[in-house]
Order: sequence, then C-alpha cells, then structure tokens
Amino acid sequence: MLAMNYRGPKRVRIDQKPIPEILHPEDAIVRVVRSCICGSDLHLYNGNVPDTRVGSTFGHEFVGIVEEIGSDVHKLKVGDKVIVPFNISCGRCAFCKQELYGNCHESNSQATAVGGIFGYSHTAGGYNGGQAEYVRVPYADVGPTIIPEGMDWDDAVLLTDVVPTGYQAAEMAGIQKGDTVVIFGAGPIGIMAARCSWLFGAGRVIIIDKEDYRLEFARNYSQCEAYNFMDMEDPVVFVKKTTDWMGADVCIDAVGAEAAGNVLQTITGRKLLLQAGSATALHWAINSVKKGGIVSIVGVYGPTDNLVPIGNVVNKGLTIRANQASVKRLLPRLIDHVQNGIIKPKQLITHRVPLEEVADAYRMFSEKLDNCIKPVLIPPTAHA
Ligand SMILES: NC(=O)c1ccc[n+]([C@@H]2O[C@H](COP(=O)([O-])OP(=O)(O)OC[C@H]3O[C@@H](n4cnc5c(N)ncnc54)[C@H](O)[C@@H]3O)[C@@H](O)[C@H]2O)c1
Ligand SMILES: [Zn+2]
Ligand SMILES: [Zn+2]
Repeated sequence: MLAMNYRGPKRVRIDQKPIPEILHPEDAIVRVVRSCICGSDLHLYNGNVPDTRVGSTFGHEFVGIVEEIGSDVHKLKVGDKVIVPFNISCGRCAFCKQELYGNCHESNSQATAVGGIFGYSHTAGGYNGGQAEYVRVPYADVGPTIIPEGMDWDDAVLLTDVVPTGYQAAEMAGIQKGDTVVIFGAGPIGIMAARCSWLFGAGRVIIIDKEDYRLEFARNYSQCEAYNFMDMEDPVVFVKKTTDWMGADVCIDAVGAEAAGNVLQTITGRKLLLQAGSATALHWAINSVKKGGIVSIVGVYGPTDNLVPIGNVVNKGLTIRANQASVKRLLPRLIDHVQNGIIKPKQLITHRVPLEEVADAYRMFSEKLDNCIKPVLIPPTAHA
C-alpha cells in the first residue's frame, strides 16, 4: 500500500509498505478515506519529538471503512464507516474508566504521561498512523465510532481531533458567562477553541497569532477579535490594556512547542533543544491572565519545560489545566453539534491533496504557504 514514510527532520516521502495485518483479536484494519496533517505532526516533522523513528508513518486524524476485524471485535463489522479518535484507548484501565481516554495506561504501558496515539512516535506507543491507505486500529470496540447517517467524510475527519481538542480547550478553561477569553494560536485548534468558547458563554473572544491570513480566517469562522502579535510591542501589555488592566479571565495556549515570538525561547527550545520546546505562548498566557484566572493548555510540549514563569503561577494563584483531548468522551455531544449546524468543521479544510503528494502537503502546511489552514490527504483507494 501507499504510506507516508518519515526519513528524518523535514524529510517525508510516499512509499510502498505492506498492508497492516490483524495482530490481536481486538484489532481492526481500516481502509483510510480521509486523513489530515495536524500541527502536532509538525513537531514530529521538525524532529522535536523524542524517539520518532525513521520508517514510521504519521497520521492520527483519519476516517475510513472497516476492512477486516479480529475475532474479538463485536461492535464493528466489515464495511462500517468509522471516525477513529486520535487517542488509542483500551477502555478498561483505571484512566479509561475515568474517561481520560488520552491517558490510557495499557495502550502505551512504558509511559507514565500520555497514552497511545496513532502515528506519533515511540514515545506515544510506536503505532503507525493513517497517512496511508490502510491502518491497524487496536481496541477496535473502544475508540472507533460509526459515522452517523448524513455526515460526510470531511466533517467526520475533523471529529478525530480538531473539534474535540478545540472544544476541550474551552471546556478546561472553565469559561463563565461574560468572560474574556484570550487564545494564543490561530491554527485549526485555536480557531476551533475560539468558536467553542462562545458555546460556554464567553462575552469576548480574542485570538492572537502572527499569520494575517489565519487571523482573517478566525475573524470570519469564529466571529472573534483577532490580532497580530508582530504589531505589538508586548502581547502581555496588549491584553492587559484591552481588559482595563485586569488581565483576561481565561487564556488558552493553542500553540505549543513550536512557538515563535521570543528569541531566547526559540534558540533554547527549538534550535538547541535545551528545553522541550519554546514556551513563548505559555509564558504570555500565564502573564496575561488575571489573578486567580485559568490557563488551559492544549498546545503540545515535550516532557520537561524550564523557561516557564512558574513563580508567577504561584503568586497569581492560577489554575492551569491541560491534557490531550479525550476524544471518545466528547464525540457524542460534538456529533450532535455538527448535525445541528452549531459547529461546521469542514469549513476549516482549505486543501485536498492526493496522498501521493504528502511531502508537498507537509511543506505547504509547515511553511504556511497558499493560505493553508487544514490540509486533507486523499488516498487513491478512498473512492468513497
Ligand atoms: N492536546 C491535544 O489533544 C492536541 C490535539 C491537537 C493538536 N494539539 C496541539 O495544539 C497546537 C496547535 O495545533 P494546530 O494544528 O492548530 O497547529 P498549527 O501549527 O497549524 O498552528 C499553530 C499557530 O500558532 C501560531 N503561533 C506561533 N507562535 C505563536 C505565539 N507565540 N503566540 C500565538 N500564536 C503563535 C502559528 O503562527 C500558527 O498559526 C499544537 O501544539 C498541536 O500539537 C494538541
Ligand atoms: Zn491532530
Ligand atoms: Zn486504558
């Protein structure tokens, strides 16, 4: 089959690989109809995630058709069209039982923080991902959810990550009626978090990025204010000033380890890898939220981070909430929101690219070319 193949930092290509097989009675094989490239894939692509092995296939956002099932799969049948959450969860460990499906203990038993994730390095379990024609899906009775009648593939594929992560960012922020929410990052995740902040009763939603085309997109899609931090002397002062010097009620970090905007952070975090990514957006979030405020983090960082103003977290009495999105927990309510037209995910898709051109798609998304917000890869075997 055709599959994306990681060759080293900033080098990916399309290759032939064997079609995956059932390895465990609870596995299914899914024929991929749509997969996406995510901001999280850029951390892998740029070589910033430990133990990303040459030869692996990325892709944690995919939907498709069940091609084959193991002998112990009971809820799926061959031919079912499924949304596959990006987290791999066993459904029975102590964490899955608390609906912390992003922290499953069994799907990535060598780790103490994150659970298994499709196509996300051996740090996240070493599973191959869905930027391919076929993918092996473990615990097939747990994660995969049948695509409801009438929902198309494009909406469905954004329910594997972008919609739940944006929604959970707003949910973890504990937004109260009338709150001012400031979101750092106008990628698909930040744009979706802005859209969802209104659902929790926000009174004012502000998004901050450096790409004008993304800010423009956010203004239209999320109906929020959007500002370019390159035009600001200091984003923290900007937020203070626009909130009567109180600070935002809530800040959301939807940027993570690749943040721009601070030379020291960029050099130590992204170039020299002395710390696990640049913590610029997180730094701004902590300093521009009000005292007693909440910081919600969905941007991804490596295991340690040492250039964060942790002293200010203590002195301001902040609540910081963070996690990988628990996709399975959120899917039922988000499917309702999509069916009722409250969230329109597929409007984020700006590019549809044949899987064969995966290398070009990575370059375009990574370098923010051609006004790209969200690229979708379509395998030749999709024909659906
Ligand atoms: N927790 C989860 O479950 C989860 C799921 C999906 C994605 N993520 C993470 O969320 C983050 C965003 O994902 P995405 O797909 O939207 O990525 P993206 O790369 O498309 O967008 C990130 C945006 O941040 C902007 N940016 C850079 N530095 C900034 C700064 N200092 N302040 C404000 N904006 C800045 C960039 O210009 C870019 O538009 C990534 O870290 C990704 O790994 C987490
Ligand atoms: Zn993703
Ligand atoms: Zn589990």
